[in-house]
Order: sequence, then C-alpha cells, then structure tokens
Amino acid sequence: MKSAKIVGLGKYLPAKRLTNKDLEQMVDTSDEWIKARTGIKERRICSKGKGSSYMAYKASEIALERAGIKPKDLDLIIVATITPDTQFPSTACYLQDYLKAPNACCFDISAACAGFVYGLTTAWQFIKGGLYKKVLVVGSETLSAITDWQDRSTCVLFGDGAGAAVLVDTKKEGFMSSYLGSDGSQADILILPGGGSRQPASYETIDKRLHYMHMKGNELFRIAVRIMVQAAKKSLSQAKLKTSDVSLLIPHQANERIINAVAKRLDIPLERVYVNISRYGNMSSASSAVALCEAHEDGLIKKDNIVVLDAFGGGLVWGSCVVKWA
Ligand code: UT7
Repeated sequence: MKSAKIVGLGKYLPAKRLTNKDLEQMVDTSDEWIKARTGIKERRICSKGKGSSYMAYKASEIALERAGIKPKDLDLIIVATITPDTQFPSTACYLQDYLKAPNACCFDISAACAGFVYGLTTAWQFIKGGLYKKVLVVGSETLSAITDWQDRSTCVLFGDGAGAAVLVDTKKEGFMSSYLGSDGSQADILILPGGGSRQPASYETIDKRLHYMHMKGNELFRIAVRIMVQAAKKSLSQAKLKTSDVSLLIPHQANERIINAVAKRLDIPLERVYVNISRYGNMSSASSAVALCEAHEDGLIKKDNIVVLDAFGGGLVWGSCVVKWA
C-alpha cells in the first residue's frame, strides 16, 4: 500500500522583530498582559514588498536542499495561505517561478490556521492515489499586511513567517491518518470581511477597516480547545493509536493557554508538546509548518516517532494528522 513521507523541512522567519515593548508604544497594552494572556513575547514582520511567496521560497529552498530534491523534479506545489501575494495568480505559481520548478502544477489552499494540515493531507492523498510522487507543501503568511495595528485585541497576536515540507511516495512509514473538518456557519468569528467579491475594496471598506482581520477572541478560545482535542482524538483513533502513543504533539500556535488546555485534556505531558509561540506569535498556516521544522531541527523527532499535528482556525476549519516518522 502506497503512502507518503516527509523527507525535507525548511523555515523562514523575517529578521525584523516586533516585541511586546514595541507594541506598548503603538496601542494601549502591556508586555505583562500579552505574556500572561497569550504566551507571546515577540513576533517577526516581513519587509515591505516581500510577500508570502518570497518567504515560501526561502523556506522551500532549505526543505528541498535537505530532501536532496531538485525543483525541476517537483510534480506539485501547494501553498497554504490566507495572505496571498495577489488574489490571483496563486502564491504557489509565484513560488514555482522563484524556484524554477516548471514541471509542477501549483495551487493555493485557503484553510487559515489549519492550512498546512489541509495541504499535507492533500499532498498525501495525491501521492497515495499515484498521480504525483514529489510534492512541496508550504504554509506562508504575511499576517502583518492584514492586521489592524490600531486594534489591541488582535495586533498583539499575529506574526509573519513560512515553513515548508517535501513529501515523496513510500511503501513504509509515513502518513497514517488525517481528520479534517469545517463549520462555515461560524465564519464571522474570525474573518477578513472586505476586499473580496461580497464587499469589494472601496473607500467605505477602508474607512470601516474591513480590510483587516476581525476576531471574536473569547468565543474562538473555547471552541478551539474543544475542537482541537476532538480532532487529535479522531485522527489517532483512525490510526488505531492512543494519546499515550504520541511522541510529539505539534499544535497550532494561537495561544499558549489553548495549547496547555488541549494537552491537559488529551493527557499528553507538556514535554511531548512543541511550543514556540513566545518567539513568533500566531502565524496561521505557517505556525504548524515552522513548529514541525523547528522540532525536527531540535532533534525532537526521530525515526518511528508518532508525530501529531493539530490545528484550528477561521472558517471555521480544523485538522489533525498522524505521521509515523520515517
Ligand atoms: O488562530 C486561530 C485561532 N485563534 C484563536 O483561537 C484565538 C483565541 N482567543 C484568544 O487567544 C484570546 O481570546 C485572546 C488572547 C484573543 C484574548 O484573551 P482573553 O483572555 O480572551 O481576553 P478578553 O478578550 O476576554 O479581554 C479581557 C480584557 C478586556 O478588558 P475588560 O473588558 O475586561 O476591561 C479587553 O479589553 O483584556 C482587554 N484586552 C487587552 N488589554 C491589554 C484585550 N486585548 C488587550 C491587550 N492589552 N492587547
């Protein structure tokens, strides 16, 4: 039976750091509040004119180099992003051009913070079905471009960055299961309302600040904990595994309190949960991608380990996948 395995990981974090102290100068907030309520100390900001495709490119170069795969050998490029360079063409097409990967077909996935898990699942299924053999999956976000820097309830949370994974076909270890879900009835909990076909960009949408993210944080918090627990349990049961089998849980990095609550309810000790939110904030689809890459770089993922990704975000969307590391 054919499956897929990850053979290369890469990340890119822009050099510019925005600390909680910097934010104290911009809005009515404090380092203490941000750290206590979210766990975030600083986040990275992409330089002007360099959008999500550039960061995706920098992360992908590393992932491909580590995989020992040339861009021209890629069959498919998937970029998960809610901050594409342009509405169209897709960010995946821009990435293809940066990489010089003419033999790949390219598309974006819009699944907010669960985008990387959606992308990995899509790649796995294309490989399993036999259509493609070598696939690049990237989570890349320039959230600073859609953040309202006058709104303290959101601007302290988000950051920019990218993470990439190269998947190839295998007959042995690799992807074991995936559970994805969505609930469009709760779309307005986390949304960028303006600039799309329903409310095209206009002076009015700009005046009303509709081209920025709007979030009902409190409501989202409760749902996030419940659904991330449910998603991890479902993907584990599909793989015929228990939470005690998990070597490393890589949760979406939206809030350290959410991560702690999810780990507690899953009964997974924090030593087996990867957390880097203090350094980067919430990078939507890039969060899981960067966390997976860093956990691997830190030597926390070894052959035969059971790695569980678990993400949740605006849509609502969620996803969890189980990988036996090859
Ligand atoms: O990535 C997709 C998934 N994202 C999430 O799941 C995010 C989920 N939500 C959260 O992480 C949290 O709800 C937040 C971090 C966004 C907010 O934390 P909270 O503990 O839920 O705070 P709150 O919204 O209930 O606000 C508590 C107080 C309010 O003041 P009053 O009404 O009690 O006087 C806010 O106005 O904190 C105030 N507040 C702030 N104070 C200082 C809100 N933002 C700030 C701020 N600095 N930046």
